[in-house]
Amino acid sequence: MDTNVPGPTYREMLDPEAAPPAFRAAAQAGLANELDPANLFHITWRGPGNRVRLVTLPRELTGARANILVLVGRHFPSGSHKVGPAYSTLMEGELSGEIEPGVHTIIGPSTGNFGIGVAYVSRLKGYSSIVIMPEGMSRERYERIRRYGGQLDFTPGSESDVILVLERTEDFKRDPKNKVLAQFELLPNYRFHRYVTGRSAIEAGAGHGNGRIAAFVSAPGSAGTLAAGDEIKARFPEAVVCALEPKECSTLFNDGRGTHRIEGIGDKMVTLIHNVLTTDYVMLLHDDDCVAGLALLERHAGRLERLLELPRGSLETLAGVFGISGVCNVLGAMRLARHLDLGPGDNIVTIATDGFDRYPSVLADLEERRGPFDGQAVDRCFEEVFRGDAPDDILDVRGRAEKERLFGYKERVWSGFGYSHSYLESMQAQSFWDAEFARIGPIDEALLRARKA
Ligand SMILES: Cc1ncc(COP(=O)(O)O)c(C=O)c1O
Repeated sequence: MDTNVPGPTYREMLDPEAAPPAFRAAAQAGLANELDPANLFHITWRGPGNRVRLVTLPRELTGARANILVLVGRHFPSGSHKVGPAYSTLMEGELSGEIEPGVHTIIGPSTGNFGIGVAYVSRLKGYSSIVIMPEGMSRERYERIRRYGGQLDFTPGSESDVILVLERTEDFKRDPKNKVLAQFELLPNYRFHRYVTGRSAIEAGAGHGNGRIAAFVSAPGSAGTLAAGDEIKARFPEAVVCALEPKECSTLFNDGRGTHRIEGIGDKMVTLIHNVLTTDYVMLLHDDDCVAGLALLERHAGRLERLLELPRGSLETLAGVFGISGVCNVLGAMRLARHLDLGPGDNIVTIATDGFDRYPSVLADLEERRGPFDGQAVDRCFEEVFRGDAPDDILDVRGRAEKERLFGYKERVWSGFGYSHSYLESMQAQSFWDAEFARIGPIDEALLRARKA
């Protein structure tokens, strides 16, 4: 294999200190220029002191007795953790000899952050890339992709029109020089999140409450992040996993479909890599509650501090940390904590996939739609968004009937893209997922050998 630019193993993404000193030194120097390929070694949840980047939300804000811990994704190279699955899929493709620099163009079907990650890792590894995405996403996303040298190929619609992106991807597949990093169907996405995100979450929980994790909450797009729940359950069998959806597009909840405003999630399908066996609850949230929640945290932190009698400046640490789906995850975690009546020893872990940097245009749009709001309108909005519970919007999907409904949905979507009945059936056993996870060791060994070659 032509190891054009070396990158990290899964183990080194979980713990960058495991990388050889020469790579670590290059990565340190690379921080001065985000396009330096050594930045691939910063694909990790860890930050200063090699600690997992985490914010713990004040109880006054969440109204929950449990601890709500949020893993912070915006410091990943390219600005979101989606670069992890993009890199892992490209790395595995190179190792298997399927993707070669100088020969192939990388195709990234996406609604944004994965596409940004694809353009970024392609650039660092010396490939050209084309990102296929809906035309209705936030402007900031397109700018980033172009900045990394990615070409854009637009499909009609917005977040929930991902199926059109997949159909367009089929056109690109016909040319053998194109290689697709298929986040919705390829298992590196599962491996990255189960191993790197899952174990980082477990470590984050260790310093809080009873040191265990009672629940993991994530709003799926590709459902890669949800795989962290598999690792959390492997360690803490009592843990539950809750998937969040926009109320406007309730696909996992009740096969519903519709357009919505939470970029990156709610893609109108059960993705191939979603292990529905380990999803326990599905919860719906209004999309505009998440947009308004973001406006509250970003624009009205001072007012909230006064309202909640928090020390001045205590919500400042949250500035920039969340995008819309991050707020959705926080709202979901709070509601689940109340629904399950979790106590002060219990930890709920959730994720902020990206940060505010890619959403100013969305808040400008909110103001245009609703008019500027301040004063008591902020207090009322907080009450609605952060305290409003909707028990009917939580569905327990642990029973056989619900699992069969979800498997059936998955089969309908993916048999249409050429997956055999027997392959789809094999995904109904946990052993399928554990075997895919177990491939991490041999993949890491192969990468270490290739790096030395
Ligand atoms: C902003 C944002 N939030 C959440 C997600 C969902 O993450 P996953 O694809 O791992 O389910 C994505 C995926 O692209 C995203 O871009």
